[in-house]
Amino acid sequence: MKVQKLTPAIGAELRDIDLRELTDKAARVQIYEALIEHQVIFITGREISPAIHLSLAQSLGEPQLPNPLYPRHPDSEHIMILRSGAGNPPDTGGWHTDMTYRQNPPFACLLIAREVPDCGGDTLWLSLCSAWDSLSSGVQSEIEELQAVHDMGDFRNNFTLHETDAGRLNEAHQQFGSAIHPMVKTHPVSGRRFLYINESFTQQIVGMRATESRRLLDYLFRHIEQPENQVRFRWSAGTLAIWDNQCTSHYATADYLPQSREMHRITVLDDARKTV
Ligand code: SIN
Repeated sequence: MKVQKLTPAIGAELRDIDLRELTDKAARVQIYEALIEHQVIFITGREISPAIHLSLAQSLGEPQLPNPLYPRHPDSEHIMILRSGAGNPPDTGGWHTDMTYRQNPPFACLLIAREVPDCGGDTLWLSLCSAWDSLSSGVQSEIEELQAVHDMGDFRNNFTLHETDAGRLNEAHQQFGSAIHPMVKTHPVSGRRFLYINESFTQQIVGMRATESRRLLDYLFRHIEQPENQVRFRWSAGTLAIWDNQCTSHYATADYLPQSREMHRITVLDDARKTV
């Protein structure tokens, strides 16, 4: 297979892959290595079945059962269906790293486009490694020991929209939980350092006043979102994207209504190959 980098910071397309290779052990090692190096990879022009989708996910680690509020694929309970269109607007806008409000957020996601609008519906990813590398050393040393609170924020509205009972809302909020993470982490495989915050879920820097924390986070969010840290991908039906959810954030543009878009997604909990 050929690996074509898409930007210096993040993203690569894996070209000339035979469908049979997707089940081949050696090719899967190459796919994993490309994922770790490029942080998000794309496989285009192949009709990947739900069974291959699942087995590729399993080759990376243990797939997670999706949130019961989303529909699941009839052939696999691990495949979550994200369908948006007129009357059902997308709910995945905003820069986010998946589920950082959990203490152990998932390692990776495998997303296949099944139906795409004529234009629009692109997804953007950014490299939190590149964001860290491009900070000045003064700012790096100011923040490298800090920790931040991650919480679902207004994203939870999607899940609580139709619930008015305070008791049940409290229960739901408890279930979502919140977590404290270091603001700077080291990737367990590549060894690269990265800035571990995202605008959707990182709420507050531990030990700072709210105004200080807001000012510093806003500065860092604007820094992270610089185009130099990003790749923007235009989907075709059938394309698979796999991203390393440890060191990236993503943003699905919601610009295609009233056209429809359907994506099938599997989330992988832990990196099966990780040694540290
Ligand atoms: C997501 O945020 O997981 C979905 C991304 C997309 O639909 O492009």
